[in-house]
Amino acid sequence: MELTDQAALTSGSAFWRTTAAGDVPAITLTDGPHGVRLQSDAGDMLAGRPATCFPPAVASGSTWDPELLRRMGEALGDECRAMDVQVLLGPGINLKRTPLGGRNFEYFSEDPILSGVLATEWVRGLQSKGIGASLKHFAVNSQETDRMIVSAEVDERTLRELYLRAFQRVVTQAQPWTIMCAYNKVNGVYASQHHWLLTEVLRDEWGFEGLVVSDWGAVVDRVAALAAGLDLTMPGPDDAGDPVVASSVRDGMLPAEVLETAVARIRALVEKSVSTTGTYDAEAHHALAREIASRAIVLLKNDDILPLRTEGQSVAVLGEFARTPRYQGGGSSQITPTRLDDVLTEITATTTAPVRFAPGYRTDNDAADETLIAEAAALAAGSDVAVVFVGTTRETEGADRTDLDLPEAHLALIERVVAANPRTVVVLNNGAVVRTAPWDASVPGVVEAWLLGQAGGSAIADVLFGRVNPSGRLAETIPLKLSDHPSYLDFPGEAGFVRYGEGLHVGYRGFDAREQPVSYPFGFGLSYTTFAYGEATATAGAESVDITVPITNTGGRDGREVVQVYVAKPASRVRRAPRELKGFATVDVAAGATATVTVRIPRDDLAYWDTRLNRWVVEDGDYVFAVGASSRDLRTTVTLAVPGSPDGRWPLVAHSTVAEWMADPRGAQLLRDAFAAGSDSPLVSMAGDDGPYELLGGMPLDRLALFPGSPFTLDTVDKLVEQANA
Ligand code: BGC
Repeated sequence: MELTDQAALTSGSAFWRTTAAGDVPAITLTDGPHGVRLQSDAGDMLAGRPATCFPPAVASGSTWDPELLRRMGEALGDECRAMDVQVLLGPGINLKRTPLGGRNFEYFSEDPILSGVLATEWVRGLQSKGIGASLKHFAVNSQETDRMIVSAEVDERTLRELYLRAFQRVVTQAQPWTIMCAYNKVNGVYASQHHWLLTEVLRDEWGFEGLVVSDWGAVVDRVAALAAGLDLTMPGPDDAGDPVVASSVRDGMLPAEVLETAVARIRALVEKSVSTTGTYDAEAHHALAREIASRAIVLLKNDDILPLRTEGQSVAVLGEFARTPRYQGGGSSQITPTRLDDVLTEITATTTAPVRFAPGYRTDNDAADETLIAEAAALAAGSDVAVVFVGTTRETEGADRTDLDLPEAHLALIERVVAANPRTVVVLNNGAVVRTAPWDASVPGVVEAWLLGQAGGSAIADVLFGRVNPSGRLAETIPLKLSDHPSYLDFPGEAGFVRYGEGLHVGYRGFDAREQPVSYPFGFGLSYTTFAYGEATATAGAESVDITVPITNTGGRDGREVVQVYVAKPASRVRRAPRELKGFATVDVAAGATATVTVRIPRDDLAYWDTRLNRWVVEDGDYVFAVGASSRDLRTTVTLAVPGSPDGRWPLVAHSTVAEWMADPRGAQLLRDAFAAGSDSPLVSMAGDDGPYELLGGMPLDRLALFPGSPFTLDTVDKLVEQANA
């Protein structure tokens, strides 16, 4: 192929089209992730053709249900096929590092296992239809502030264990056809030209076989990006950049093979793509959107007020969101829905009792409006029960939030309605957590209904009236206040840098490590029934650990429990969070029945990233598997000894400290013997029998050997090293 054609292939020809060059035709990529946003050529930047607006990831993540995510992926695949789209830009799996993250509504969780498991099924579902996924944004795109220039400063262990872990899982288990690089820099280097990320980790270590596409406008230097492993720059055309790519090859600045490899990957992607048009079952997809939405709703508080009765209980429906649904966030994921359910209509259709509505606030102004509030309070006073719909008024890609609080008008509305009628339920619509303290103490019912997509209205009614027994669980912690959050002191950074100072202690890991109280913990969610946990047992296999636990539905209704397994490694040689989610299962249990649930934890998920050995290591020893209904409601634990990685031993060198030698069984014995042999040394006698090891703990052996009165010489140290590593 001509060099100019090769260069042209590596950039787009339009906003959503690759370039046709040589014998390679063009394909269409479009957003993603919770609907197909196919734009007509003219008109609004964001508006697309009507498509099912499924629940955004903030909601689908709260289902903790991989099977639902797979069905959502399949449905999205059908819609792509109907619209002749070959690659759908999603899912977004960056961690919710801070509750203020402007795109949190597009991301699943603050936990990488939960995000990874759900995203894997989404990708499998989509790709089973012959449509490519684009896993994004690789990597560490956890804030919107300065998103195109900021450098996320993250230590390698945190990167591996937290920020890259979900990507690794999806890549190795589902092979997405494409992966999208992030806008930001990672440790000083643009993700779009990060060789370590795009080539060494992604391809050499994880075995990624697909194509790396840029985020739209993320490429600063086409040649550097290609050299790092980025194949396709979007959008296009890039009339200025294509000739630079070609001339760089001609001048020998860019190896010809690098460009040829990128072209081969583009060709491979195009060749497996299908061009189809047709229809899809919009009714069935709406029903699926409703099912997922109803499963996403998290019941936070219920003091004997829910479910509502369908007769004989008049309802005041308060808040503009009940009539004008708030169902998705702003930016590139915005879908033009095929239809839109509102909860006011759904409530009215469900109950035979009177339903009265007042808007309570305006959506274009967050300030409290006394007239609207007074009208709402009066309706509440005259009704058997009040349901108040409040939430965030604006969440969008491109901007982080500045605080956690509900708008002033919404807070005022809650306060006045509860004062008028204590039998009040608050329903929240928000794309990332909002502060619920202290007002939640005064209301008997709180329902976290996120941004639920086009069927959110009917899904909320399903839960309010008990047609669906709620089973959603928090995929992120709700803090008591913003300043409690582990990310608080290091967000959003300044002067182009944001330091991920909390390290491994992202989200619940940080709250747990500091034993801080929270409003609602990670994994939390109530049901209209109750579940009892029997005793957990553990079975070790070569490649996994199975945790089995009987779950009994002890209430009066059929329900669904999300059984969560958190793992701790009490005596560890490295710093760890007190407990980490390692597996979970959703299970339907009929009233009075018992189901036996087995959660399989792959051995790989028990590994930590060892920075000395530069590899994943399963540490030898006892692991505590705590099973429960949330990260802070652990009902049964089982301890199991897990054999360590054969290559997990830390090498002992002359420069290792006395403490490091003592931490290694073989090293400790050798060192004890060496000290015993030199027991007439003043250094040893000075410190007493057990003393030397403590007093000298921080001393490297080769330094100790040079000390006057040392029990041994450098020669001895060399011998010790040899024996220790023999
Ligand atoms: C977003 C991506 C999106 C792309 C195309 C970017 O601004 O970060 O998530 O896929 O635009 O719309």
